[in-house]
Amino acid sequence: MMKKTSLIQSPGALDKMRVAGKLASDVLVMLDEHVKVGVTTETLNQIAHDYIVNVQQAIPAPLNYNGFPKSICTSVNHVVCHGIPTDSKILKDGDIINIDVTVIKDGYYGDTSKMWIVGNGSIMAQRICDVAQKALYAGMSVVKDGAYLGDIGAAIQEVVEPERFSIVREFCGHGISNEFHHEPQILHYGKKGTGMQLKTGMTFTIEPMINQGVWQTKVLADEWTAVTKDRKLSAQWEHTMVVTDNGCEVFTTRPEEDLSFLNS
Ligand code: MF3
Ligand code: CO
Ligand code: CO
Repeated sequence: MMKKTSLIQSPGALDKMRVAGKLASDVLVMLDEHVKVGVTTETLNQIAHDYIVNVQQAIPAPLNYNGFPKSICTSVNHVVCHGIPTDSKILKDGDIINIDVTVIKDGYYGDTSKMWIVGNGSIMAQRICDVAQKALYAGMSVVKDGAYLGDIGAAIQEVVEPERFSIVREFCGHGISNEFHHEPQILHYGKKGTGMQLKTGMTFTIEPMINQGVWQTKVLADEWTAVTKDRKLSAQWEHTMVVTDNGCEVFTTRPEEDLSFLNS
């Protein structure tokens, strides 16, 4: 993570982040019809890449980021995050997949991800995807000027732990603006009233990774793919937002989402 002189974004920067966030969420919406039994994750990568570059005239941020070889991350079943699209990964009935899209437009970043259940998923598949989304929403719901970073983590823990799922520790949300990842780190576990205080104009992601079994992860020999140590399922959803006086403004909302629980 880079140091930044100020974590508070100017109105002009926020306007650019609104645009980048909308583009990133549009990619997830566009991909919907392509996520189905028989498609390879490399095909999904190519579709997303072409759309970002040619239609949106934007830049897929993962491509060549610290050596990442593809334009999106595709994380299937026990892959926690940073899955690399390949020709050999063919989606099959019952798989769960996270697709994580980050675009750069006019120098600013939008970062968002969601889960799909391919064909007919198990009750467990449904439940872990659902709880991971609720965890994201719980974290978002406590964001506002003056809240503490620890409030976000605590809110996520309150959703996840009663469900007997675990929260990944090694990866976290992050400040984002004209850099992909900067301060602060947004931990997805914590104690209320601890850590940095949020300020209106700070922009960051919340992106909890929730595991069916143990929280521990392992990075594969490709140096990117993070998997659960016990190879049980993992699910993640992500949004990019800005802190406001009363709550937050989400830049990556999709049309099907009802975020009216925020700012109320
Ligand atoms: N989009 C991821 C995040 O939420 C980062 C992906 S980095 C990559 O922070 F290099 F794997 F693409
Ligand atoms: Co992110
Ligand atoms: Co992301």
